[in-house]
Amino acid sequence: MVKICCIGAGYVGGPTMAVIALKCPKIEVAVVDISVSRIAAWNGDQLPIYEPGLEDVVTQCRGRNLFFSTDIEKHVAEADIVFVSVNTPTKTQGLGAGKAADLTYWESAARMIANVSNSNKIVVEKSTVPVKTAEAIEKILTHNSREIKYQILSNPEFLAEGTAIQDLFNPDRVLIGGRETPEGQKAIQALKDVYAHWVPEDRIITTNLWSAELSKLAANAFLAQRISSVNAMSALCEATGADVTQVSHAIGKDTRIGPRFLNSSVGFGGSCFQKDILNLVYICECNGLTEVANYWKQVIKVNDYQKNRFVNRIVSSMFNTVSGKKIAILGFAFKKDTGDTRETPAIDVCKGLLGDKAKLSIYDPQVTEDQIQRDLSMKKFDWDHPIHLQPMSPPASKQVNVVWDAYQAAKDAHGVCILTEWDEFKTLDYQKIFDNMRKPAYIFDGRNILDVEKLREIGFIVYSIGKPLDPWHKDTLAVA
Ligand code: UDX
Ligand code: ADP
Repeated sequence: MVKICCIGAGYVGGPTMAVIALKCPKIEVAVVDISVSRIAAWNGDQLPIYEPGLEDVVTQCRGRNLFFSTDIEKHVAEADIVFVSVNTPTKTQGLGAGKAADLTYWESAARMIANVSNSNKIVVEKSTVPVKTAEAIEKILTHNSREIKYQILSNPEFLAEGTAIQDLFNPDRVLIGGRETPEGQKAIQALKDVYAHWVPEDRIITTNLWSAELSKLAANAFLAQRISSVNAMSALCEATGADVTQVSHAIGKDTRIGPRFLNSSVGFGGSCFQKDILNLVYICECNGLTEVANYWKQVIKVNDYQKNRFVNRIVSSMFNTVSGKKIAILGFAFKKDTGDTRETPAIDVCKGLLGDKAKLSIYDPQVTEDQIQRDLSMKKFDWDHPIHLQPMSPPASKQVNVVWDAYQAAKDAHGVCILTEWDEFKTLDYQKIFDNMRKPAYIFDGRNILDVEKLREIGFIVYSIGKPLDPWHKDTLAVA
């Protein structure tokens, strides 16, 4: 029986291994982690991540051929294939600070593999680890090999949160990068055989190691660039009276452009886009490619601009001050159908409003109060460390109140901001919300999910990204 071990039971490792276990009943899959609480949650009723369909997959295979454990060394030693899916934070100090990936956790995982292995292994780089990590791991393993042979593969993950299970069941492609030697090709074939249990062969692409790693960076950079492009257009639409949704629809009909990833928003978030682009920028700079680096940097700058613009709209429309005013924040996760808040635009928007002394009442159906308080007090990039190394929960801020109901969040508020496109926000009783708010009552739709005309009929002053402005907003100055 082939044995797989995955180091890192996070957003990538957990769902990916669960699907491999489901689709390959003859393979034994162990997912290991240094976090005792995370492993306990994977073994319990309340999984550590919210992902539609995940629970069903896990309950089908857990205890059969899928195991979650903290006994890292045992499972690594027994495995034929070891996936590594640990954290890769952005460096906050030293060379490459603010851009380059910090490979501390990778290096420690690689050294541990070298220490405990007593049989040949295929080691697969799985999470976002873009900077020639595979080569670095290869060096650590071969210099500590004790006669054991390792083959390193890069198998970037393209799943998106909220649709992870669907993406894993039916991927656009599976990418496997490896050495072009006979041993490298044999390792590629072994991993291909795993995916071939459910992925058609023509969707499994094989490349050399670095092409696979760079493809992951490039895919995320291209996707993020589309969002920044449409967000840049949204500013122009507001200034000129066009409607960004109509523009997106019109350009998306061009089959060369395509309709997806053209939704204008308050900004993109998530653990990958910004981090991957920063890495891309760093690699370009290291190779003397200043223009290329600046080109990609601009995608992040436009994203920051979009978040600032949103805050400025709110403050300027409320007579240039939100000091002491209650603002309801509906949605804190970086997108719907996930409880993940990593790099969510809500953090920057909330911090911007708090900087202007607003009082926030936050509601998200999947994010806990502890997480929100932690996110609003954490330093940039601190989120990307294993949970037990993250700062302890801070004392709750008096300016921030986390509630479990959208109506409660909006009660007596001056304004309501939609920051995540949760479906339930589309069907709220906005008349009831309006009736219980201070007047004038504002709505700022950062996801373009609401019916602007209906809201105006109710009496709201409405701002919706990239849409023709309400006369109220035309008269106020929003400087980014
Ligand atoms: C992304 C990639 O899609 C995935 O392939 C990769 O493996 C990891 O990074 P993820 O971050 O989970 O996935 O979510 P994604 O759906 O890409 O959304 C990223 C951000 O962009 C979210 O904040 C989302 O709200 C925003 N977005 C997306 C927009 O603002 N507009 C869009 O049209 C699409
Ligand atoms: P991703 O989104 O890439 O899956 P996560 O932060 O969700 O990232 O998951 C990474 C996991 O890796 C965390 O649960 C963390 O505890 C775990 N981890 C980090 N370093 C190690 C290590 N050396 N051994 C085992 N697990 C590790």
